[in-house]
Amino acid sequence: MNKYLLDHTLKIRVPIILFVILVTFIVTFYASRAERDGIGYTPDQPIQFSHQLHAGQMEIDCQYCHTGVAKGRQALVPSVNICMNCHTIARKDKPEIIKLTKYYEDGTPIPWKRIHQVPEYAYFNHSVHINRGVECVSCHGDIARMEKVGQVKGFTMTACLDCHRNPHENLPYLEKVNKGPENCFACHR
Ligand code: HEC
Ligand code: HEC
Ligand code: HEC
Ligand code: HEC
Ligand code: HEC
Repeated sequence: MNKYLLDHTLKIRVPIILFVILVTFIVTFYASRAERDGIGYTPDQPIQFSHQLHAGQMEIDCQYCHTGVAKGRQALVPSVNICMNCHTIARKDKPEIIKLTKYYEDGTPIPWKRIHQVPEYAYFNHSVHINRGVECVSCHGDIARMEKVGQVKGFTMTACLDCHRNPHENLPYLEKVNKGPENCFACHR
């Protein structure tokens, strides 16, 4: 390589390449941020299901649909059968309900996008919280007012520990409440 070319490479091409790498990194960093720390993540769902309508206005109990919350780890998102308890009749000529009925008749599960999630190496269990009186709103915000569900609270280790260390501050509506575990093995088994 002659001197001119080497100079050109060092003075112009290298900085340009570095610049492009840096910009790409920054753009992906911010673009994927919502999915990484979760807060603010409010994806469009395959059916425009409204919690504000069903859980808010119609006051359907959360556990009518999320049948797992008091029994085990997962809250569970309802299968289309539960929707069809009402929607074989209610609003069955509306476009969203026609879509819903198609999933039901085809026997395909609705591909709802998962919103709240902790990594696999961390252990979370709904029932231990629900059965001690911790309300959904303390971790998920006021879902019954959401037209479209989004994550409003962080589920980082710091967030879990903050409530476990200061349960009275975080759960003012519970008269009697124990501290949650802080030992690593409780959440990393
Ligand atoms: C009629 C059934 C129904 C009722 C009642 C209901 N939900 Fe849901 N819920 C769903 C469906 C379907 C989804 C998935 C689609 C979506 O995110 O909107 C969902 C999603 C959620 C999610 C997000 C799940 C994820 O992927 O992270 C939370 C949190 C939630 N519901 C909490 C509640 C709470 C709290 C209540 C009571 C105030 C409630 N739901 C009442 C059907 C219901
Ligand atoms: C307990 C009965 C009941 C259940 C269970 C129920 N719905 Fe509904 N849903 C209704 C009623 C009633 C309306 C109409 C309310 C109104 O507009 O005043 C409605 C409205 C809707 C609409 C709006 C339709 C439109 O365009 O007007 C959608 C979409 C919907 N429901 C989806 C679902 C899905 C998905 C599920 C299951 C996760 C579900 N519903 C479960 C009773 C129910
Ligand atoms: C102590 C905090 C906490 C409380 C209280 C809580 N959740 Fe959750 N919820 C979580 C966490 C953390 C996740 C993610 C769990 C995972 O990735 O396994 C989650 C996930 C979910 C999901 C996604 C799907 C699933 O099966 O886990 C739904 C639906 C849900 N919660 C509904 C509810 C409802 C309804 C209530 C109230 C009856 C409730 N949650 C109370 C922390 C909480
Ligand atoms: C809003 C408060 C709150 C938040 C947020 C919270 N917890 Fe808890 N957690 C509690 C309380 C209260 C207990 C029960 C203490 C008792 O009575 O023993 C508990 C108990 C537990 C237990 C012990 C279960 C058992 O078998 O006894 C585990 C594990 C746990 N939490 C994991 C988590 C994880 C993981 C997160 C974060 C994703 C989390 N918690 C977020 C309040 C909270
Ligand atoms: C109350 C539940 C809880 C306890 C107790 C807990 N962790 Fe975690 N930990 C989590 C959750 C949830 C995550 C995943 C979310 C995140 O990345 O912050 C996590 C993530 C981590 C990570 C991944 C690093 C990171 O920040 O992404 C490490 C390492 C870790 N924990 C170590 C520990 C050690 C060591 C202890 C004991 C001193 C401990 N944890 C106690 C819930 C807990």
